[in-house]
Amino acid sequence: MKSLFVFILMGQCSFITCQLYDYHFIKDNKTWDEAQTYCREKYTDLATVSNMTDMKRLIDSTQSQAEAWIGLHSYPGRDNRTWYWSLPGVDFNENQTRWEKGQPNDWGGPWEENCVLLINNKWSDYLCTHLSKFICDNETNQANKTCHVIDYFMTWPQAQNYCRENHTDLISGLDQLYDCAQSVSVVWIGLFRDTWRWSDGSNSSFRYWESLSNNDMVDGESDKTCATTVLNRAGRWSFDYCSNKKPFICYDAPVKQHLVEMTLRVDDPTVDMKDPAVAEALLKQLEQKFREKGVSVKLSWRKLPEKQNTCPEIDKV
Ligand SMILES: *[C@@H]1O[C@H](CO)[C@@H](O)[C@H](O)[C@H]1NC(C)=O
Ligand SMILES: *[C@@H]1O[C@H](CO)[C@@H](O)[C@H](O)[C@H]1NC(C)=O
Ligand SMILES: *[C@@H]1O[C@H](CO)[C@@H](O)[C@H](O)[C@H]1NC(C)=O
Ligand SMILES: *[C@@H]1O[C@H](CO)[C@@H](O)[C@H](O)[C@H]1NC(C)=O
Ligand SMILES: *[C@@H]1O[C@H](CO)[C@@H](O)[C@H](O)[C@H]1NC(C)=O
Ligand SMILES: *[C@@H]1O[C@H](CO)[C@@H](O)[C@H](O)[C@H]1NC(C)=O
Ligand SMILES: *[C@@H]1O[C@H](CO)[C@@H](O)[C@H](O)[C@H]1NC(C)=O
Ligand SMILES: *[C@@H]1O[C@H](CO)[C@@H](O)[C@H](O)[C@H]1NC(C)=O
Repeated sequence: MKSLFVFILMGQCSFITCQLYDYHFIKDNKTWDEAQTYCREKYTDLATVSNMTDMKRLIDSTQSQAEAWIGLHSYPGRDNRTWYWSLPGVDFNENQTRWEKGQPNDWGGPWEENCVLLINNKWSDYLCTHLSKFICDNETNQANKTCHVIDYFMTWPQAQNYCRENHTDLISGLDQLYDCAQSVSVVWIGLFRDTWRWSDGSNSSFRYWESLSNNDMVDGESDKTCATTVLNRAGRWSFDYCSNKKPFICYDAPVKQHLVEMTLRVDDPTVDMKDPAVAEALLKQLEQKFREKGVSVKLSWRKLPEKQNTCPEIDKV
C-alpha cells in the first residue's frame, strides 16, 4: 500500500526583510551589562551597526529622543588597539601594509597615534588631531579612478565626516589607494585604530562618533568604555560609564526561513506517520539530505490549527 502525505515548514518573515537586522528600542533603564544580558535572552544581542544604512534603520526604529546603549564596548590599552579601514566592508589585512620604516611608533605619546598619514606613498601613524589634506573615494564608480585629493586642512575625524558627506568615505583599502595617482605628498587616508569591540563579535569598522574635536572618539576616555547613540543628535555616538542606567537597543539576527510544501510517498505500511518519534526521525533524515547538498537548515513541523497535533496529514491512495 502507498500513502501520500503533506507537511509544511513555516517561516516567520519574508525573504527580503530577513536579510536585515531588526532593531528593538527598550525603554527600561539598565546598565550596559544588564542591557547585554537582556538582549541576549530576548533577542540576539545589543545592537551592532555596520554602516549608514543600518544607522538610518536604527533611528527609524524608535520615536525616542533618549541616549541609548548600543553594543560597542571599549577595552583600553595599547595591546588592544586594532587597525581598521574607515569604509565599512573593507578588511584590514596585516600582510598588506605600506608602513614607513619604524612605523607605527606612537611617537606623539603612549596610545596616542591612531590615525594614518600617507607621506610620500608610505604610511605613518599620527595624532588624529593633526591638520592635513586628505583623499576621499567614491566607491560607486569602479571603472574610473574615483579618488579626490581635498585641499582643505582638517583633523582625521573632520576629514572622515567631509568624505562621507561629499563622497563615500576616506580612501580605504590598499588597491584603492594605489589605483589613485598622488599629486600631494602628505594626506590622511582611511586607516585608524581603536579599542572598541562589538558585543556580538562583529568586526565592523563603522564608527559614527559625535565628538569631532579630539582624540577621545578614537580611543575612548579610559573610564567611559560603553557607547551610546544620542537619538536627539541624529543618532551620533557618544560614550559613558557602563554602570550608568540607560535605555538600550537590541537587534534580531537575520534568519532566512521558507514555507515549504512537500509530498512524500511512504511504501512501508507499518510506518505510522502520526507517531511523534517517526515524524521527528523523518525531519532529521531530511535535514541530513539537505546538508549533503550543502544547505544548512533546521526543519520543524507546522502545527495545523484545525487539528490538535503536529503530525502531517495523511492521504491514502
Ligand atoms: C529612565 O531614566 C530617566 C532619567 O532618569 C527617566 O526620565 C525615565 O523615566 C526612566 N525610564 C523608565 C522607563 O523608567
Ligand atoms: C549594511 O550592513 C548590513 C548588516 O551587515 C548589511 O546587511 C547591508 O548589506 C549593509 N548595507 C550596505 C549598503 O552596505
Ligand atoms: C585588553 O583588554 C582586556 C579585556 O578584554 C583587558 O583585560 C586587558 O587588560 C587589556 N590589555 C591592556 C594592555 O590594557
Ligand atoms: C570580518 O568578518 C567578516 C564576516 O564575518 C569576515 O568575512 C572577515 O574575514 C572578517 N575580517 C577580519 C579582518 O577578520
Ligand atoms: C598573514 O600571513 C600569515 C603568515 O603567512 C598567515 O598565517 C595569515 O593568515 C595572514 N593573514 C591574512 C589576513 O591574510
Ligand atoms: C568614466 O569617465 C568618463 C569621463 O568622465 C565617462 O565618459 C565614462 O562613461 C566613465 N566610465 C564609467 C564606467 O563610468
Ligand atoms: C562638503 O563639501 C562642501 C563644499 O566643499 C563643504 O562646504 C562642506 O562642509 C562639506 N561637508 C562636510 C561635512 O565637511
Ligand atoms: C562622487 O560622489 C558624489 C556624491 O555621491 C557625486 O556628487 C560625485 O559626482 C561623484 N564623483 C565622481 C567623480 O564620481
